[in-house]
Amino acid sequence: MERFIYLDHAATTQIDKEVLDEMIPYMTSYYGNASSLYELGRKSRIAVEKARKQIANSINCSSDEIYFTSCGSESDNLAIKGIAKANKNRGKHIIISNVEHPAVIETCKTLEQEGFEISYVPVNENGIIDLQMLKKIIKRNTILISVMTANNEVGTIQPIEEIGKIAKLYNIIFHTDSVQAIGNLNLNVKRMNIDALSMSGHKFYGPKGIGTLYIRSGINFYRQQDGGHQEKEKRAGTENVAGIVGIGKAIEIADKNKSQYNNHLKTLRTMYVKNVLNMNKRVFVNGDMENRLPGNMNISFLGYKGAYLVEELDKRGICASSGSACSAGLPMPSNVLMNMTHDVRIAESSLRITFGKENTIQDVEYLIYCLNDILNK
Ligand SMILES: Cc1ncc(COP(=O)(O)O)c(C=O)c1O
Repeated sequence: MERFIYLDHAATTQIDKEVLDEMIPYMTSYYGNASSLYELGRKSRIAVEKARKQIANSINCSSDEIYFTSCGSESDNLAIKGIAKANKNRGKHIIISNVEHPAVIETCKTLEQEGFEISYVPVNENGIIDLQMLKKIIKRNTILISVMTANNEVGTIQPIEEIGKIAKLYNIIFHTDSVQAIGNLNLNVKRMNIDALSMSGHKFYGPKGIGTLYIRSGINFYRQQDGGHQEKEKRAGTENVAGIVGIGKAIEIADKNKSQYNNHLKTLRTMYVKNVLNMNKRVFVNGDMENRLPGNMNISFLGYKGAYLVEELDKRGICASSGSACSAGLPMPSNVLMNMTHDVRIAESSLRITFGKENTIQDVEYLIYCLNDILNK
């Protein structure tokens, strides 16, 4: 049988069987609209509110601070545009890092066209933001700071607690895109002074088409999608009940097994790096080795194009990536790696491997075998 090994868990994950089992009744027997007042509708409403509680418990906020959306991108849009537009009387300056996901960068570019000013905090060569520079960039009219919890390309984890402290000190709203971090890191929005946080179901073994946004109560934000009264008038549209049930169950499972999953991912990652370094090729490890998501390893194989490595691995049944899934196929080198390394050779030759809970030591052995084969051709 041909081998198939999935090593691109930062792009998406396979839905957990337990999650799917929990969702199916809400697509078959309990298909009621959560706003309907009869028993079938009430069943859906109860399921939606249970999931809201599961999400809230995970990040230590109250259920009424959680809003369901269709994905991580929508959560980022709702948080950033919603907060910016509702608070523009206080100022029109927004700060983001220069390694954010397009869901944040492009949202800010749209706001720029509407008269907002965007400043970008630089990162060091490991992808960690410069906190001194962040403080320097803050102005009297800064209303929002948005810095991702962990990067999708290199897995670098940002000093979220410190950023939260700075934002609080200057009375600035702090949003973080935690799409890659949920399921791996312990996030406590109260302790970390996070005012808004985005997540997406399909990154932690939940379904696609469902995201959530936490916004601290008391923070003013405008809805971006007009229509009915759903989600406390902040996001119109009939609730995706099955998806909501799925993301609730997925976060519960992730939280229960986090340390076990993380240890497993780190074992695979360590084995992979060690073997790559032993190959005696010109390689460059991208991202911080300490503050890093456990399953992420981004290595540049100098002299090879990342896209070529991905293609060759695909021929051998391995799914990997040369950067983020959103920018796959674009002719430009990765913006994240360019901003970290300022070296186009590094940016163009990167291979992102992101391990998942079902991967095994044999998968790593096969990956190394294939890489040796490709690199020694
Ligand atoms: C850091 C980050 N933010 C936002 C998104 C967008 O999430 P979604 O695919 O659910 O729209 C992604 C997806 O790759 C991501 O990695």
